[in-house]
Amino acid sequence: MGTSRRRRGSMYLEEETSKKSEMITCIFSLKEEVGALARGLRLFEEKGINLTHIESRPSRMNKEQFEFFISVDASCSQALDEVIDGLRTQISGHVHELSRNKQKDTVPWFPNDIQDLDRFANQILSYGSELESDHPGFTDTVYRARRKEFADIAYNYRHGQIIPRVEYTEAEKLTWGTVFKELKTLYPTHACHEHNRVFPLLEKYCGYRQDNVPQLEDVSRFLQSCTGFRLRPVAGLLSSRDFLAGLAFRVFHSTQYIRHGSEPTYTPEPDICHELLGHVPLYADSSFAQFSQEIGLASLGAPDEFIEKLATVYWFTVEFGLCKQGSEIKAYGAGLLSSFGELQYCLSDKPKILPFDPAKTSLQKYPITEFQPVYFVAESFEDAKERVRKFASTIPRPFTVRYNPYTSSIEVLDNTQQLKNLADSINSEVGKLCEALRKLD
Ligand SMILES: [Fe+2]
Repeated sequence: MGTSRRRRGSMYLEEETSKKSEMITCIFSLKEEVGALARGLRLFEEKGINLTHIESRPSRMNKEQFEFFISVDASCSQALDEVIDGLRTQISGHVHELSRNKQKDTVPWFPNDIQDLDRFANQILSYGSELESDHPGFTDTVYRARRKEFADIAYNYRHGQIIPRVEYTEAEKLTWGTVFKELKTLYPTHACHEHNRVFPLLEKYCGYRQDNVPQLEDVSRFLQSCTGFRLRPVAGLLSSRDFLAGLAFRVFHSTQYIRHGSEPTYTPEPDICHELLGHVPLYADSSFAQFSQEIGLASLGAPDEFIEKLATVYWFTVEFGLCKQGSEIKAYGAGLLSSFGELQYCLSDKPKILPFDPAKTSLQKYPITEFQPVYFVAESFEDAKERVRKFASTIPRPFTVRYNPYTSSIEVLDNTQQLKNLADSINSEVGKLCEALRKLD
């Protein structure tokens, strides 16, 4: 059954709007004591800064603190620097900026270690039960309460923990079953062969069945055994910068809740059907995993305008990508592989198909509430990876980064010792390659 409406590719990519680009958002924490907020707000008042939005909640990182999410007009940028200094030195030690146009010579903070991703859990832009008024579950109090349960799981999750198992209700299983059954009929003819190769393995090892919603923990373990990718539950909207940074560590931020049962073929945001049917099969493929990680590595410390370009490249590849396979074109984007309507549409003669070229693709505008008018087709994941790597080399940052899988950390290659270590490592690998080639002869 086709539908003109479709799910958005990823709510975890912050959508750029002209309104948002004029705002600066940040989160700061304060000790829970009388007058703490008043003292913090006085700093804003003294600098003449008008807060356009403020939210508060207890900090999960530090039980004695409260967190405040604020937005201010971008014209206050300079005065905000002084307020942030004041918050850091006079009132609290923790301030995190979520968005701002950076000075050209400053490098935005990025996670160095996989455990640093825990910091994102407290930097979400909206919480799980906060639904837009046009969401199918907006007036359903039971659904909203359920969404809060899922959001709490993600909010409390820390790296290294087992992802809590969820007992899905019969109604939720029914929704999953409807989506699963419909899409499975299309995969043999519309999905790329990497997706079709992995799908039976997920049925065999991870409980992919019409009557069962697979558990994130089982799927994450499976992915780790294939490519080292792992899932991490997420409570709400992450900024593009934070979401892409996860990919650098081969971590995919995944929702765990399911769409509203009243409209099984539609969801205005990613849900577990989108993640498990669209994204997961490809993350079990080594070429695709490397390609995705390449986008993530390129994002670390990149200026804001390049983050927007990389998020667009992500949109047209990981979410809505097509690839050549022999003489045919197939779908590999998760937004396509989880939408019965758009999966058929994207391979019809209606949309425009262009070759994947990050320099051009990264500038392409796109709608988020209807089928894409334009898709980009990759020659192969290997080719796409090389193109993204070349594109990344144009990003103005004064260092190169490399992921160290033994320590699950990012190495910044900006000194001779780091380069010597890398040369040793490559030398050892080349030695193994030569030895293996000799033995094959
Ligand atoms: Fe997605």
